Amino acid sequence: MAIEFPEALLARMRTAAKVGVLTGAGVSAESGLSTFRGPGGLWQNQDVMELATPQGFARDPQKVWAWYAWRREQALQARPNPGHAALARWEAALTARGGTFELITQNVDGLHQAAGSRNVTELHGSGWVLRCTGCGDERIDRTHPLPELPPRCAKCRSLLRPGVVWFGEMLPERAIISAQAAAETSELFLVAGTSGTVYPAASFVQIAARCGAVTVEVNLEPTPLSGKVDYSFRGKTGEWLPALLAAAERSDA
Ligand code: OAD
Ligand code: ZN
Repeated sequence: MAIEFPEALLARMRTAAKVGVLTGAGVSAESGLSTFRGPGGLWQNQDVMELATPQGFARDPQKVWAWYAWRREQALQARPNPGHAALARWEAALTARGGTFELITQNVDGLHQAAGSRNVTELHGSGWVLRCTGCGDERIDRTHPLPELPPRCAKCRSLLRPGVVWFGEMLPERAIISAQAAAETSELFLVAGTSGTVYPAASFVQIAARCGAVTVEVNLEPTPLSGKVDYSFRGKTGEWLPALLAAAERSDA
């Protein structure tokens, strides 16, 4: 795909020593995972309150776990796509020349790590973490199917829950701190494949803009963030991210 990117953007990509990226479900769409909003989105025919709140889990842990077990199965079958790969390659290249690349994701599927990204902040937790609602014990477990549903803690037999952040819950403090720091210090900040409707995630690119970063969005559709960034590109992250990176590398030569 030969796309002409603005020279000022490519120049910033070449020179920025600190790059921040926020990703959302759209980045995993080309790996076959459903997004939440929009046509075919998970929230079209599923109730957020039932499946993604502590109250929903307290009411019907079996139902919530059936849904997460299904999503874990989908994620186990999924492979990173060229969008994930481009971000991993960008991190490797920037790190090799002494820079810092901070990838902040709202996704819980682990596909960025599978693609080779290393400095990943999981803002909404991880679907692979099982956390005990009784003793707080936490472990990573990629087993599917789980031996019992809902799963129980081996130590205290209390219910386990997915290690994700539900609506109405606090984000992990360490994740907020690193995302905030990345937003404040990045010279370039990219948002990719997110509807920009969930906070605080959607605030980071706006903080980055206020702190002087050049800001970029890649999304199939316009979002509430589109008017707030310097450059907004319409299209698939699996095509645009590799193209953007290739263009910057070309102009590097
Ligand atoms: P959404 O489903 O809200 O938005 C996905 C975005 O990706 C949309 O703006 C699409 O236009 C875009 N998109 C879809 N396919 C794409 C592709 N191939 N290339 C580029 N863009 C594409 O997902 P998030 O923004 O991640 O939280 O949602 C944020 C949070 O809301 C999630 O972490 C989840 C959800 O409810 C919780 O469950 C707590
Ligand atoms: Zn326990």
